[in-house]
Amino acid sequence: MKGTRQKKVRLIVNGNTYELDVGGRPDQIQPFHTLSHTLRETLGLTGTKVSCDHGACGCCTVLMDNQAVLSCMMLTVECDGRKITTIEGLKDPKTEDLDPLQQAFIDHTAFQCGFCTPGIIMSAKALLYENPFPTEEDVKEALSGNFCRCISHYQVVKAVMSASEEVR
Ligand code: FES
Ligand code: FES
Repeated sequence: MKGTRQKKVRLIVNGNTYELDVGGRPDQIQPFHTLSHTLRETLGLTGTKVSCDHGACGCCTVLMDNQAVLSCMMLTVECDGRKITTIEGLKDPKTEDLDPLQQAFIDHTAFQCGFCTPGIIMSAKALLYENPFPTEEDVKEALSGNFCRCISHYQVVKAVMSASEEVR
């Protein structure tokens, strides 16, 4: 509308840059949209899951500038210019091979229903960026905000430890 200040939000998601209009139309990013909503509903990246939608379960964890964040607790407009990585962005862009962490989850059957798994893998990825050689206690601490209703936690710790051992 003439006279209305146009605003955009720029997100770099999994290496792709998106310039998204902010406004009140259904096809625009609304000021109250969360990052998880934008990833799933606007960009179609449904690998990021939403469960509690209020910061309590860790399902929606993604990386922002390589640090784990809860995407249900961030407004998209707050993420302008930030680099976001979702579970879809972990595979090798050329070979499409899975990230070693993803492969370790498969090798150790570190999930059952899998709903919590993208968030757990992204939290673990952030840990390994910061500390490539964690102890089991470090892994438990880093994943303490991620809840798994299928109680896969023991296998999850084994998977993360095994992925970290691969790079030793
Ligand atoms: S969906 Fe974001 S923390 Fe539960
Ligand atoms: S594998 Fe089902 S909630 Fe974690």
